[in-house]
Amino acid sequence: MHIFITRKIPDVGLKILDENNISYDIGNFKKPPTKKDLIKSLKKKNYDGIITFLTDTIDKEILDVCPNIKIIANFSVGFNNLDIEELKKRGIMTSNTPGTSSIAVAEHTVALMMSLTTRLVEGDRFVRSGKYKGWDPELLVGTDMKGKIIGLIGCGEIGTEVAKILNKGFGSKILYYDIVKNNKIEEETKAELKEIDEIFKTADIISLHVPLLPSTTHLINKDTLSTMKSSAFLINTSRGGVINEKDLVNALKNKIIRGAALDVFEYEPKLCSGLNKLSNVILTPHIASSRASARNQMAEIVVKNVVSVLKEGKVINSVIK
Ligand code: DGY
Repeated sequence: MHIFITRKIPDVGLKILDENNISYDIGNFKKPPTKKDLIKSLKKKNYDGIITFLTDTIDKEILDVCPNIKIIANFSVGFNNLDIEELKKRGIMTSNTPGTSSIAVAEHTVALMMSLTTRLVEGDRFVRSGKYKGWDPELLVGTDMKGKIIGLIGCGEIGTEVAKILNKGFGSKILYYDIVKNNKIEEETKAELKEIDEIFKTADIISLHVPLLPSTTHLINKDTLSTMKSSAFLINTSRGGVINEKDLVNALKNKIIRGAALDVFEYEPKLCSGLNKLSNVILTPHIASSRASARNQMAEIVVKNVVSVLKEGKVINSVIK
């Protein structure tokens, strides 16, 4: 049995493959491979499976060059890079790594919120640029986190962790919108399930925790932005396409909302024109889940799915329902 791994995964995963006598080739790419790169690599052998990353678009064209594939194991929680219908049609088992990054992403989300409210990144830039000439009571005045209304759009595993940190740490009132009622978080934090429009109108900080689906694409756009408080902050650690970035740039420029922090981008890794010129936005390079603990767990789960499919014909964390 032989699989292709599009880029290096942590050793803990490779060790499990070795123990199970599954050999592998690892793509030697310095940056996410293009479709052409992937096709070239996949044509080299008759692979039984592929470990993919969120930057690899797996569609008909790719699948056509590897007819023997039994498993696509995606090294991430999100799987909007996979053509699920096509995989289903071909009977290819497909997995993700649920639950591996909830703590990491939740902590990064809260760090982004606090960086916005404390103006931490602006302060750092200010000092580095030599502009700091002495203490000033009006310098970079921030906002308290305590007492703020938090609006979570999507309250699965990550949203739940964000709610817990904010409610226990800051006494925040948590409002959430989800298609599923989250009893656990309601009990633990007194979070309230609300209509999405009400969240837009009332929250001081809105944080996005939804998968990228046709129904969530451009959920944040000029219309929804215009219903938010002018003092509101928007955080996105989900997927870039949930926000119409051009509309967000306009809203930030025109003070329709106060600020935003983004770990993901609509045309990742490209930024929407004007975004990096704004002082009221914080940008991080899709690193919310980038912790050794999360990456190791992801490697373990991704590989366990490969082993289970190739040895027993069963997928553990199927994304095909
Ligand atoms: C995920 O798991 O979906 C993150 O976005 C990348 O680690």
